[in-house]
Amino acid sequence: MDLVWLLCIFVLFFEELSLGWSKPDADADAVTIGAIFTFSTINGKVAQIAMKAAENDVNADPTFLGGRKLSISMHDSNFSGFLGIIGALQFMETDTVAIIGPQSSGTAHILSHLANELQVPMLSFTALDPMLSPLQYPYFIQTAPSDLFQMIAVADIISFYGWREVVTIYSDDDHNRNGVTVLGDQLAERLCKITYKAVLPPDPTVTENDVRAELEKGVLALRLHTPDSKRKADFSARWNSLSNGTIGLNPYGLYAYDTVWMIARAVKMFLDQGNNVSFSNDTKLNNVGGGALNLEALSIFDGGKQLLSSVLQTNMNGLTGPIKFNPDRSLVHPSYDVINVLENGYRQIGYWSNYSGLSIVPPEELYAKPPNRSSSNQHLNSVIWPGGTSNKPRGWVFPNNGKQLRIGVPRRVGYRDFVEQVNGTDIVHGYCIDVFLAAIKLLPYAVPHKFVLFGNGHENPSYNELVNMVAADVFDAAVGDIAIVTNRTKIVDFTQPYIESGLVVVAPVRNMNSSPWAFLRPFTPLMWAVTGVFFLIVGVVVWILEHRINDEFRGSPRKQVMTILWFSFSTMFFAHRENTVSTLGRMVLIIWLFVVLIINSSYTASLTSILTVQQLSSPIRGIDSLIISNSPIGFQVGSFAENYMVEELNIPKSRLIKLGSPEEYASALETGRVAAVVDEQPYIDLFLSNHCKFSIRGQEFTKSGWGFAFPRDSPLAVDMSTALLTLSENGELQKIHNRWLSKRACQNSGAESDQLHLQSFWGLFLICGVSCVIALLIYLFFILRKFKRHSQQASEPSSHGSSSSARLQTFLTFADMKEDKSRSKSKRKRNNDLMNGGRNSNLPGMDPIC
Ligand code: SER
Repeated sequence: MDLVWLLCIFVLFFEELSLGWSKPDADADAVTIGAIFTFSTINGKVAQIAMKAAENDVNADPTFLGGRKLSISMHDSNFSGFLGIIGALQFMETDTVAIIGPQSSGTAHILSHLANELQVPMLSFTALDPMLSPLQYPYFIQTAPSDLFQMIAVADIISFYGWREVVTIYSDDDHNRNGVTVLGDQLAERLCKITYKAVLPPDPTVTENDVRAELEKGVLALRLHTPDSKRKADFSARWNSLSNGTIGLNPYGLYAYDTVWMIARAVKMFLDQGNNVSFSNDTKLNNVGGGALNLEALSIFDGGKQLLSSVLQTNMNGLTGPIKFNPDRSLVHPSYDVINVLENGYRQIGYWSNYSGLSIVPPEELYAKPPNRSSSNQHLNSVIWPGGTSNKPRGWVFPNNGKQLRIGVPRRVGYRDFVEQVNGTDIVHGYCIDVFLAAIKLLPYAVPHKFVLFGNGHENPSYNELVNMVAADVFDAAVGDIAIVTNRTKIVDFTQPYIESGLVVVAPVRNMNSSPWAFLRPFTPLMWAVTGVFFLIVGVVVWILEHRINDEFRGSPRKQVMTILWFSFSTMFFAHRENTVSTLGRMVLIIWLFVVLIINSSYTASLTSILTVQQLSSPIRGIDSLIISNSPIGFQVGSFAENYMVEELNIPKSRLIKLGSPEEYASALETGRVAAVVDEQPYIDLFLSNHCKFSIRGQEFTKSGWGFAFPRDSPLAVDMSTALLTLSENGELQKIHNRWLSKRACQNSGAESDQLHLQSFWGLFLICGVSCVIALLIYLFFILRKFKRHSQQASEPSSHGSSSSARLQTFLTFADMKEDKSRSKSKRKRNNDLMNGGRNSNLPGMDPIC
């Protein structure tokens, strides 16, 4: 490969010689160095002056090179790679020990082959292409930091300002192309990327104007950083006289000066080691056979290897600061000044060093501390951006070939709070639109867009079709209440969900806690029956155990029945009066009282929750009972819910009824056209805020969310996701939600819902009232019967033939009379006697039942 390059070079060499170029005589006492630059460029001019100054300074001390002089031959390549090659060939012919240059990386790629073959070290501080690999080109040395570091610095700045995508504008030549490639790699490491490479023709005369035409202003720039020092200050002070005021000093002047000194020191080391400057023929060229070409004129520098090694061992303090090479031949501590270019000048806003990244203190102050490239340690002073603002620009405009993004939005008919067309215009608003606009504001770049309504305006559009249109590039994005579901994620990229939207079942319900018989609901009928039976069993058991030894469980059979009933049921309230005296009786009673305690507390707890927590009843308890019910199911037209129910839940399509609006939901549910509606939670929340006779039955049975759809691999999907997360974290998402969706028309205030109404209790009052009436009627029946007997037996004249008012008077007096217990008892005794064969008694007295 090297040979092929050499042959090419020789063709050129021959042509140049035939044009009359003659080889200059080498000064025997001089050590010759060549320099190849375009001296009409700023850097070329500055380098020329600086190199001359360095040459003079080296030669100012004749002993430095042991009496020999350093001689720098300058060759003007005049923007031409060809002339650069010719210059190098001339130097190779004139026993040059090293070459400074070339100026451009493109030429350096070619000349490095020559340097390799003829073993002449080539040092450049301007050809900084990161691809000029020391492995491939061992004789080529970059004496200023490689563009690799400049690209790292650019990537760091881009990432520092939060820009994610960049457009690079560069001249399409070897000098720049590789730097942009490296920049792409560096950006990728920071999750940024180059979205567009704007290449300019490599013609140097066009470049500046073309760049000016493409850029309104380039406002940040990097400049090689050289630490302040006395030597640098002295040199700057000398510069005016060196340059005769023709041009200002720039860092390349400092590097040019240092490069000459680097070579001078290496030559000194080389000579001090006893080496001679000698050249010999390249045997490879003999075999090639040069024909008319003067191949023998090219000779190999015998001491090239040693001189190269001396250069690489450089350890000096130059105008550019400490100069030393790392083992990979890169310079130690590459660093740049970060410059804010203004309309009338510039200001430095910080530094970049490979050691600690972006900083506002000079890198040399950081080298004493441990390196810290963490993002929290990256700082720059404020920048004055174009327009004189210090607000960070949002970066680039989302590239869409200069067109606005066409964003499809559903033309909704129902649930317009989510997305709504404003009175037939193209303006849209709503919850989803507000979320989108808030998120897009957070992007570090502008996204010019326009909303395009999708749908016929008569019914909600198919959301699957809307998403398909994004995949088919009809829309650049889709914004709205679009559920993130599997078949859609296969064709587009969604943002993170901005609201949860699982499917739920909504059905008509009856409020059960207002029932007058609610007090019966804590227990099932069986539980009531078993509890009642156990009361009786326990009463009877205790009676059996107590009967023989306890007077309170003795008496007439009727009394004993009453005792059993009274005793057992009064244990319900722990209000029994009868003492239990038998051990077994007590044991049964204590266990029973424990059972009663548990039953009581459970009843109380259950009744409390029944009466205070809203109890809604419906035969549909969730999606499972809905599927089993075989009843018709409503779904929102256009929604994925239809497909989901058919494909995932295997519900026959014939059972599905499409509904377009909340009003249709309500009428279909009320009339029984559908038993339930299956839809996403956000719609149902809105629906239920206005329709109180319906409720969600069961749990959400899918977990999903709504997101915005973008074409596959769109960087917007990722950036919008980040923006949505920011909105969620800073509470803005909730505020937008509250603004559009927090409607609570149905819900009573907390105080009201805690109150219990008569409606829940009238059953109990009815039972009590009826019991009272029945008791009174029975009482009346018995007392009238007794009064009648009493009247017949008594021989009170006033009672005969008296007026009805007098009879009423007598009855009231009778009813008011206190019953004589002893008479009552003797009556009971006589009754007992009668039951034992005695005669009936007709003595007046109260029956114990009364
Ligand atoms: N949110 C539904 C869907 O995305 C439309 O109602 O399908």
